[in-house]
Amino acid sequence: MTSASTGRRIAVYPGSFDPLTNGHVDIIVRGSRLFDRIIVALLVNADKAPLFTLAERVEIAREVFASYPNVEVDTFDGLLIDYVRRREANVIVRGLRAISDFEYELQMALMNRRLNPEAETVFMMPAEQYTYLSSRLVKEVFALGGTISGLVPDTVKAHLRRKHETKAGVRI
Ligand code: PNS
Repeated sequence: MTSASTGRRIAVYPGSFDPLTNGHVDIIVRGSRLFDRIIVALLVNADKAPLFTLAERVEIAREVFASYPNVEVDTFDGLLIDYVRRREANVIVRGLRAISDFEYELQMALMNRRLNPEAETVFMMPAEQYTYLSSRLVKEVFALGGTISGLVPDTVKAHLRRKHETKAGVRI
C-alpha cells in the first residue's frame, strides 16, 4: 500500500504519548523499518489532562528519534483520519499489547475505515518485555517512588524527575 501521489509508504502513529514509553519507542523503531516514513502524531486536544504539555511531549519524541531520518514528530487536532489524508499517508499504526487493548482498537480501526476506506490500520506488537507497559503505569509508579528504569527513554526519566521536583517546590 503506497501513497497515491508519491508512491511512498507513509504511516501515522497517533497517540497521547504522555509520556513516551519504551513500548512506544519499540513500535516506532519497528515501523521505521517497515515504512518509508513514520509520523509520530501527538493529539493536541486530548480529553484527559496530560502530565506533560504538548511542547514537552514533542521535545521528548524529537530528542529520542533525532537519529532516525524517516521518523517525524508532529501534532494534530480534530479527526485523525483528516490528518492522515492531509499528510497523504495511507497507514495508521497502533500498538497492540494484550487482548484488553483489542476492543477499543477494533472500534477505532473500523470507524476510521468507515471514514476513509483508503487508510489501513496496521497493528504492531511491541517486544514481550513491554506488553504490560503503559504511560499511566509509568506515571503512577514514578510518582510513588518506584523505579521506571528500562521502561522509558532516559530523557523521559529526567523530565519526570524535573516535573515532580517543580511540583514539590524542591530543587535537587
Ligand atoms: O494514545 P491514545 O490516547 O490511546 O490515542 C488515542 C488517539 C489519539 C489515537 C485517538 O483518541 C484519536 O484518534 N483521536 C483523534 C480524534 C478522532 O479521530 N476520533 C475518532 C477515532 S475513531
